[in-house]
Amino acid sequence: MHHSDLAFCPIGIFDSGVGGLTVMRQVMKALPHEDIVYFGDTARLPYGNKGQETVMRYCLENVSFLLEKKVKMVIVACNTATAFALDHLRQSFSIPILGVIESGAQKAVENTKTGCIAVLGTRGTIQSGAYQKALQQADPYLTVVPISCPLFVPLVEEGMGEHPATEMIIREYLRELRDYPVDTILLGCTHYPLLYHQIQTIVGNEITLVDSATTCAGKVAELLQYETLMNNQGNSLPQYQYYVSDDPVKFQELGERVFGHYLEQVGLQV
Ligand code: DGL
Repeated sequence: MHHSDLAFCPIGIFDSGVGGLTVMRQVMKALPHEDIVYFGDTARLPYGNKGQETVMRYCLENVSFLLEKKVKMVIVACNTATAFALDHLRQSFSIPILGVIESGAQKAVENTKTGCIAVLGTRGTIQSGAYQKALQQADPYLTVVPISCPLFVPLVEEGMGEHPATEMIIREYLRELRDYPVDTILLGCTHYPLLYHQIQTIVGNEITLVDSATTCAGKVAELLQYETLMNNQGNSLPQYQYYVSDDPVKFQELGERVFGHYLEQVGLQV
Protein backbone atom coordinates (compact mmCIF):
# COMPACT_ATOMS: atom_id res chain seq x y z
CA MET A 1 0.00 0.00 0.00
CA HIS A 2 1.22 3.50 -0.80
CA HIS A 3 2.20 5.48 2.33
CA SER A 4 -0.34 8.27 1.68
CA ASP A 5 -3.16 5.68 1.53
CA LEU A 6 -2.09 4.28 4.88
CA ALA A 7 -3.30 7.49 6.53
CA PHE A 8 -6.88 6.40 5.74
CA CYS A 9 -6.46 3.10 7.55
CA PRO A 10 -7.89 2.70 11.05
CA ILE A 11 -6.07 2.84 14.37
CA GLY A 12 -6.07 -0.53 16.15
CA ILE A 13 -6.61 -0.71 19.90
CA PHE A 14 -6.64 -3.82 22.02
CA ASP A 15 -7.22 -4.67 25.65
CA SER A 16 -8.05 -7.80 27.60
CA GLY A 17 -11.71 -6.64 27.69
CA VAL A 18 -13.77 -3.49 28.09
CA GLY A 19 -11.24 -1.46 30.11
CA GLY A 20 -9.36 -0.19 27.08
CA LEU A 21 -12.49 1.72 26.08
CA THR A 22 -11.33 4.37 28.60
CA VAL A 23 -8.30 4.88 26.34
CA MET A 24 -10.38 4.72 23.16
CA ARG A 25 -12.69 7.44 24.45
CA GLN A 26 -9.75 9.84 24.80
CA VAL A 27 -8.40 8.91 21.35
CA MET A 28 -11.83 9.59 19.81
CA LYS A 29 -11.84 13.03 21.44
CA ALA A 30 -8.29 13.91 20.45
CA LEU A 31 -8.53 12.51 16.89
CA PRO A 32 -12.14 12.80 15.73
CA HIS A 33 -11.39 11.90 12.08
CA GLU A 34 -9.71 8.57 12.76
CA ASP A 35 -11.42 5.22 12.20
CA ILE A 36 -10.78 2.78 15.03
CA VAL A 37 -10.88 -1.01 15.31
CA TYR A 38 -11.08 -2.16 18.94
CA PHE A 39 -10.39 -5.71 20.04
CA GLY A 40 -11.28 -6.93 23.53
CA ASP A 41 -9.90 -10.36 24.38
CA THR A 42 -12.87 -11.24 26.56
CA ALA A 43 -12.37 -15.01 26.23
CA ARG A 44 -9.02 -14.83 27.97
CA LEU A 45 -9.41 -11.96 30.40
CA PRO A 46 -8.17 -11.13 32.97
CA TYR A 47 -4.57 -10.64 31.91
CA GLY A 48 -3.69 -9.13 35.29
CA ASN A 49 -3.25 -12.45 37.09
CA LYS A 50 -1.43 -14.32 34.32
CA GLY A 51 2.25 -14.79 33.66
CA GLN A 52 4.38 -12.98 31.12
CA GLU A 53 4.74 -15.81 28.57
CA THR A 54 1.00 -16.26 28.37
CA VAL A 55 0.21 -12.56 28.06
CA MET A 56 2.91 -12.18 25.40
CA ARG A 57 1.40 -14.98 23.34
CA TYR A 58 -2.08 -13.44 23.57
CA CYS A 59 -0.74 -10.04 22.57
CA LEU A 60 1.01 -11.38 19.46
CA GLU A 61 -2.28 -12.90 18.36
CA ASN A 62 -4.20 -9.72 19.10
CA VAL A 63 -1.88 -7.57 16.99
CA SER A 64 -1.99 -10.13 14.17
CA PHE A 65 -5.78 -9.93 14.21
CA LEU A 66 -5.72 -6.12 14.09
CA LEU A 67 -3.28 -6.26 11.17
CA GLU A 68 -5.81 -8.33 9.26
CA LYS A 69 -8.11 -5.34 9.73
CA LYS A 70 -5.43 -3.20 8.04
CA VAL A 71 -4.65 -0.96 10.99
CA LYS A 72 -1.87 1.60 10.56
CA MET A 73 -0.77 1.54 14.20
CA VAL A 74 -1.66 -0.27 17.41
CA ILE A 75 -2.36 1.05 20.88
CA VAL A 76 -1.85 -1.49 23.64
CA ALA A 77 -4.58 -0.08 25.89
CA CYS A 78 -3.98 -2.61 28.65
CA ASN A 79 -1.43 -1.89 31.34
CA THR A 80 -0.63 -5.54 32.01
CA ALA A 81 -0.14 -6.20 28.29
CA THR A 82 2.07 -3.12 27.98
CA ALA A 83 4.10 -4.16 31.02
CA PHE A 84 4.68 -7.70 29.77
CA ALA A 85 4.67 -7.48 26.00
CA LEU A 86 5.29 -4.02 24.53
CA ASP A 87 8.99 -4.53 23.78
CA HIS A 88 8.37 -7.93 22.28
CA LEU A 89 5.54 -6.61 20.08
CA ARG A 90 7.71 -3.78 18.83
CA GLN A 91 10.39 -6.29 17.85
CA SER A 92 7.86 -8.52 16.14
CA PHE A 93 5.89 -6.04 13.99
CA SER A 94 6.93 -3.17 11.78
CA ILE A 95 3.96 -0.82 12.37
CA PRO A 96 4.14 1.71 15.22
CA ILE A 97 2.96 0.29 18.56
CA LEU A 98 2.23 2.46 21.57
CA GLY A 99 1.62 1.35 25.16
CA VAL A 100 0.06 3.15 28.11
CA ILE A 101 2.80 2.97 30.73
CA GLU A 102 5.15 5.66 29.48
CA SER A 103 2.28 8.16 29.22
CA GLY A 104 1.07 7.55 32.75
CA ALA A 105 4.58 7.66 34.19
CA GLN A 106 5.32 10.94 32.45
CA LYS A 107 2.19 12.55 33.81
CA ALA A 108 2.93 11.39 37.36
CA VAL A 109 6.49 12.70 37.22
CA GLU A 110 5.24 16.07 35.99
CA ASN A 111 2.80 16.25 38.87
CA THR A 112 4.81 15.21 41.92
CA LYS A 113 6.41 17.75 44.22
CA THR A 114 7.35 15.44 47.08
CA GLY A 115 9.06 13.01 44.67
CA CYS A 116 6.99 10.17 46.09
CA ILE A 117 4.56 8.41 43.76
CA ALA A 118 2.32 5.42 44.41
CA VAL A 119 1.48 3.12 41.50
CA LEU A 120 -1.62 0.95 41.62
CA GLY A 121 -1.93 -1.91 39.15
CA THR A 122 -2.80 -5.53 38.64
CA ARG A 123 -0.55 -8.15 40.15
CA GLY A 124 1.14 -8.70 36.77
CA THR A 125 1.78 -5.02 36.14
CA ILE A 126 3.24 -4.44 39.59
CA GLN A 127 5.33 -7.61 39.55
CA SER A 128 6.77 -6.73 36.14
CA GLY A 129 8.28 -3.57 37.62
CA ALA A 130 7.49 -1.72 34.38
CA TYR A 131 6.03 1.39 36.02
CA GLN A 132 8.75 1.50 38.64
CA LYS A 133 11.32 1.37 35.84
CA ALA A 134 9.60 4.01 33.70
CA LEU A 135 9.26 6.36 36.67
CA GLN A 136 12.82 5.92 37.83
CA GLN A 137 14.14 6.38 34.32
CA ALA A 138 12.36 9.72 34.20
CA ASP A 139 13.74 10.70 37.61
CA PRO A 140 16.13 8.39 39.49
CA TYR A 141 15.53 10.21 42.80
CA LEU A 142 11.85 9.35 42.97
CA THR A 143 10.45 7.11 45.68
CA VAL A 144 7.95 4.72 44.12
CA VAL A 145 5.41 2.81 46.19
CA PRO A 146 3.98 -0.04 44.07
CA ILE A 147 0.70 -1.58 45.24
CA SER A 148 -1.12 -4.40 43.47
CA CYS A 149 -4.89 -4.22 43.73
CA PRO A 150 -6.19 -7.45 42.17
CA LEU A 151 -9.74 -7.03 43.47
CA PHE A 152 -10.42 -3.69 41.76
CA VAL A 153 -11.08 -5.09 38.28
CA PRO A 154 -13.76 -7.60 39.31
CA LEU A 155 -15.43 -5.01 41.57
CA VAL A 156 -15.72 -2.57 38.67
CA GLU A 157 -16.89 -5.25 36.26
CA GLU A 158 -19.57 -6.38 38.70
CA GLY A 159 -20.82 -2.80 38.96
CA MET A 160 -19.85 -2.63 42.65
CA GLY A 161 -17.87 0.59 42.49
CA GLU A 162 -20.25 2.33 44.90
CA HIS A 163 -20.59 -0.64 47.27
CA PRO A 164 -19.29 -0.29 50.85
CA ALA A 165 -17.19 -3.44 50.31
CA THR A 166 -15.24 -1.56 47.64
CA GLU A 167 -14.52 1.27 50.04
CA MET A 168 -13.19 -1.22 52.59
CA ILE A 169 -10.97 -2.87 50.01
CA ILE A 170 -9.59 0.46 48.78
CA ARG A 171 -8.75 1.40 52.40
CA GLU A 172 -7.06 -1.93 52.93
CA TYR A 173 -4.90 -1.69 49.79
CA LEU A 174 -3.94 1.92 50.41
CA ARG A 175 -3.14 1.51 54.10
CA GLU A 176 0.62 1.56 53.56
CA LEU A 177 0.43 4.97 51.89
CA ARG A 178 0.35 6.49 55.36
CA ASP A 179 4.02 5.64 55.78
CA TYR A 180 5.11 7.71 52.76
CA PRO A 181 4.88 11.36 51.65
CA VAL A 182 2.95 10.36 48.52
CA ASP A 183 1.37 13.29 46.64
CA THR A 184 0.57 11.47 43.37
CA ILE A 185 -1.19 8.19 42.74
CA LEU A 186 -0.84 6.65 39.31
CA LEU A 187 -3.86 4.60 38.32
CA GLY A 188 -1.93 1.97 36.38
CA CYS A 189 -4.84 -0.12 35.12
CA THR A 190 -7.61 0.45 32.61
CA HIS A 191 -10.37 -0.01 35.19
CA TYR A 192 -9.07 2.18 37.98
CA PRO A 193 -10.19 5.53 36.51
CA LEU A 194 -13.69 4.15 37.14
CA LEU A 195 -12.90 4.16 40.88
CA TYR A 196 -11.48 7.66 40.70
CA HIS A 197 -13.97 9.36 43.01
CA GLN A 198 -13.94 6.58 45.58
CA ILE A 199 -10.14 6.61 45.78
CA GLN A 200 -9.96 10.39 45.86
CA THR A 201 -12.46 10.57 48.72
CA ILE A 202 -10.44 8.10 50.76
CA VAL A 203 -6.98 9.62 50.18
CA GLY A 204 -8.13 13.25 50.37
CA ASN A 205 -7.60 16.18 48.04
CA GLU A 206 -3.93 16.67 48.91
CA ILE A 207 -3.13 13.71 46.67
CA THR A 208 -3.55 13.91 42.88
CA LEU A 209 -4.70 10.89 40.91
CA VAL A 210 -3.38 10.51 37.38
CA ASP A 211 -4.17 8.00 34.67
CA SER A 212 -2.59 7.33 31.31
CA ALA A 213 -5.58 7.58 28.96
CA THR A 214 -5.44 11.32 28.23
CA THR A 215 -1.65 11.50 27.87
CA CYS A 216 -1.73 8.39 25.71
CA ALA A 217 -4.20 10.01 23.27
CA GLY A 218 -1.85 12.99 22.97
CA LYS A 219 1.02 10.64 22.17
CA VAL A 220 -1.04 8.91 19.47
CA ALA A 221 -1.60 12.28 17.80
CA GLU A 222 2.12 13.10 17.98
CA LEU A 223 3.06 9.73 16.57
CA LEU A 224 0.62 9.95 13.64
CA GLN A 225 1.84 13.45 12.88
CA TYR A 226 5.46 12.34 13.01
CA GLU A 227 4.88 9.29 10.81
CA THR A 228 2.64 11.33 8.44
CA LEU A 229 -0.15 8.86 9.12
CA MET A 230 -2.77 11.34 10.34
CA ASN A 231 -6.14 11.17 8.60
CA ASN A 232 -6.97 14.80 7.88
CA GLN A 233 -10.10 14.03 5.84
CA GLY A 234 -12.61 15.77 8.06
CA ASN A 235 -15.59 15.29 5.77
CA SER A 236 -16.73 11.82 6.69
CA LEU A 237 -17.92 10.37 9.99
CA PRO A 238 -15.36 8.08 11.58
CA GLN A 239 -16.12 4.38 11.76
CA TYR A 240 -15.73 2.44 14.97
CA GLN A 241 -15.69 -1.34 14.95
CA TYR A 242 -15.52 -3.57 17.99
CA TYR A 243 -14.48 -7.21 18.13
CA VAL A 244 -14.33 -9.56 21.09
CA SER A 245 -13.21 -13.16 21.53
CA ASP A 246 -16.24 -14.09 23.67
CA ASP A 247 -19.76 -12.89 24.48
CA PRO A 248 -20.36 -9.74 22.41
CA VAL A 249 -23.60 -8.99 24.29
CA LYS A 250 -21.90 -8.84 27.68
CA PHE A 251 -19.15 -6.68 26.20
CA GLN A 252 -21.73 -4.33 24.74
CA GLU A 253 -23.65 -3.97 28.02
CA LEU A 254 -20.60 -3.59 30.23
CA GLY A 255 -18.84 -1.45 27.66
CA GLU A 256 -21.74 0.97 27.39
CA ARG A 257 -21.86 1.27 31.17
CA VAL A 258 -18.12 1.86 31.44
CA PHE A 259 -17.85 3.98 28.35
CA GLY A 260 -21.09 5.92 28.33
CA HIS A 261 -21.47 5.55 24.54
CA TYR A 262 -23.56 3.32 22.38
CA LEU A 263 -21.34 0.57 20.95
CA GLU A 264 -22.52 -0.48 17.54
CA GLN A 265 -21.14 -3.41 15.55
CA VAL A 266 -19.66 -5.71 18.19
CA GLY A 267 -18.40 -8.75 16.27
CA LEU A 268 -17.22 -12.10 17.53
CA GLN A 269 -13.70 -13.11 16.59
CA VAL A 270 -12.74 -16.66 17.58
N1 DGL B 1 -6.70 -4.30 31.22
C1 DGL B 1 -6.00 -4.77 32.39
C2 DGL B 1 -4.94 -3.76 32.80
O1 DGL B 1 -5.00 -2.60 32.44
C3 DGL B 1 -6.97 -5.02 33.54
C4 DGL B 1 -7.89 -6.17 33.32
C5 DGL B 1 -7.18 -7.50 33.25
O2 DGL B 1 -6.59 -7.92 34.26
O3 DGL B 1 -7.20 -8.10 32.19
O4 DGL B 1 -4.02 -4.11 33.49
